[in-house]
Amino acid sequence: MCGIVGYIGEQNAYPILIKGLHRLEYRGYDSAGVSMINSNGELSVLKATGKVSALEEKCATADTSGTIGIAHTRWATHGEPNTVNAHPHMSQSGNLAMVHNGIIENYKTLRSELERNGMTFCSETDTEVLVQLIEFIQIKQQCDLFTAVQRALKNVVGAYAIAILDKNRPDQLVCARKGSPLVIGVGNNANGHKEFYLGSDATPIIEYTNQVIYLKDEEIAVMDRNGRLEITNLSNVKQTPEMHTLQMNLDELEKGGFPHFMLKEIWEQPNAMRTCLRGRLSIQDRDVLLSGIVDHRDKFIKARRIIICACGTSWHSALIGKYFIEEAAQIPVEVEYASEFRYRNPVIFPDDVVIAVSQSGETADTLAAIQLAEQKGAFLYGICNVIGSSIARATHSGTYLHVGPEIGVASTKAFTGQVITLCLLGLAIAKEKKTLSDQTFHMLVDELEQIPDKMQWTLEHNKNIDQFAQMFTYCRNFLYLGRGYNYPVALEGALKLKEISYIHAEGYPAAEMKHGPIALVDEEMPVVVIAPKRGMYDKIVSNIQEIKSRKGKIISVVTEGDTIVKNMSDYHFVIPDTRDCFVPLLAVIPLQLLSYYVATAKGRNVDQPRNLAKSVTVE
Ligand code: AGP
Repeated sequence: MCGIVGYIGEQNAYPILIKGLHRLEYRGYDSAGVSMINSNGELSVLKATGKVSALEEKCATADTSGTIGIAHTRWATHGEPNTVNAHPHMSQSGNLAMVHNGIIENYKTLRSELERNGMTFCSETDTEVLVQLIEFIQIKQQCDLFTAVQRALKNVVGAYAIAILDKNRPDQLVCARKGSPLVIGVGNNANGHKEFYLGSDATPIIEYTNQVIYLKDEEIAVMDRNGRLEITNLSNVKQTPEMHTLQMNLDELEKGGFPHFMLKEIWEQPNAMRTCLRGRLSIQDRDVLLSGIVDHRDKFIKARRIIICACGTSWHSALIGKYFIEEAAQIPVEVEYASEFRYRNPVIFPDDVVIAVSQSGETADTLAAIQLAEQKGAFLYGICNVIGSSIARATHSGTYLHVGPEIGVASTKAFTGQVITLCLLGLAIAKEKKTLSDQTFHMLVDELEQIPDKMQWTLEHNKNIDQFAQMFTYCRNFLYLGRGYNYPVALEGALKLKEISYIHAEGYPAAEMKHGPIALVDEEMPVVVIAPKRGMYDKIVSNIQEIKSRKGKIISVVTEGDTIVKNMSDYHFVIPDTRDCFVPLLAVIPLQLLSYYVATAKGRNVDQPRNLAKSVTVE
């Protein structure tokens, strides 16, 4: 949730740290801070509440010199967002400064113990407890920073990614992780000397180097100014760093002329889907090739069941995946909220395949769910967007979305990327299990290939949604309805609106309306109905009648050429025709645009909505 940046080398650290914080601001944005050691050996700590820009203003008149530093953007867990609780936190002597992402679960016990030993605290955070513990060990046991960190972390229950500066060692940056991500970038400066960068993900690093090391759980890294990097685990075993080359492109991290990342990412969907399908869908051979499935063919052919664990938007795409995989590959699929699954002692068989769907690949609940499944012997498959993320590394096999970095907190292109990947997965399993006729298989492959063009058409034909979104800014509630494949789209449409406009919205299976929610419908209630001219069209027409009789305002998503639903609607959005199973990939687009324009008309910060974070690395 929080973002960490670090640097040690010969350059001025501050500009690198601030730029890195801006890149990571999507992870948390209630306060930010930075710490450097200058050439006189003085350790500075500067903090501000609010956005990184507020920190920059504060730093404008301060000494920000120094070639070593750490920085942090916070999403509060312990203690309200203010400058005292913002990171970096200092040890009692003022010698150590530390930034932290994660939760130290036993911080209360540790704090009481330290207080009994005469230590005092200024903040309410778990982070301050850890930095004080490290210093306490350093002094009591007369050891160096690395050893103190190692010993302190052995006493910690919870999750952490930390980076620490020691005033007495201005040539050394120490970091460690367990459960929260940390990436080390290894670069060469203009003089050919090695320098090290640190980030919660690779986005603050890519500008300087594409050579990275993903720190593993319970590893501690010591980087020094002479280019030495040493990684040791908590059991004191030296580790060989595994270098990876990043494929990320810097342009992908910029807004490219759009006012917000979210709008840019909505419009990127056609191309993002082309990249996702590239090399996996062959039109020439009318075939699907997913190496993650081919390499583990037996696991999927013999699978008794597939369980998909996910959270939020990823849970919605998983639900669409369930419908498709069951239909195409004839395997029972269960979709689980990872947060529920991990704590309810679920029945997992060794011949189950457990799939984790996660854009960030760092969601704490999803990671814990697959760790539980692994203990019970299941085969683990990851569907992630962020390359090298914790879930991608914790699974036995998997497929990356390849839709490019998603910066807007509200997920858009990752959602469609997940849906398309799950469709590919369903087709790949169906091919191995021979559950579809050649004719149906080819028809689905041909249609899937058309989806990016149809997405482009959908965007072009709905770009004027901004002109009427204004009318809905006064609404306090919205209902979203869909059936079959479009029920999860209704859930996703409602979530998008809630997240960025703060208007209450609920998604429902359309036929469930009459079992309760219809009581809410009156002339004030906009009801968004996904009503493509396919499968259950007649049934959804009846559902619309029911709402109209209660004077609800109908906003529909209809197939091009439709007249019946269009004429019943107060407003409508058009999408091109496609197979039932692929309608979600098109129908969600006008809903994303609707949320975006309602939220911007209300003056909301759509890229960084209140209380949310892009990567939910805490429970
Ligand atoms: C999406 O708009 C949300 N911000 C949120 O629901 C998100 O999908 C959820 O936190 C899961 O994240 P993940 O895909 O990175 O695991």
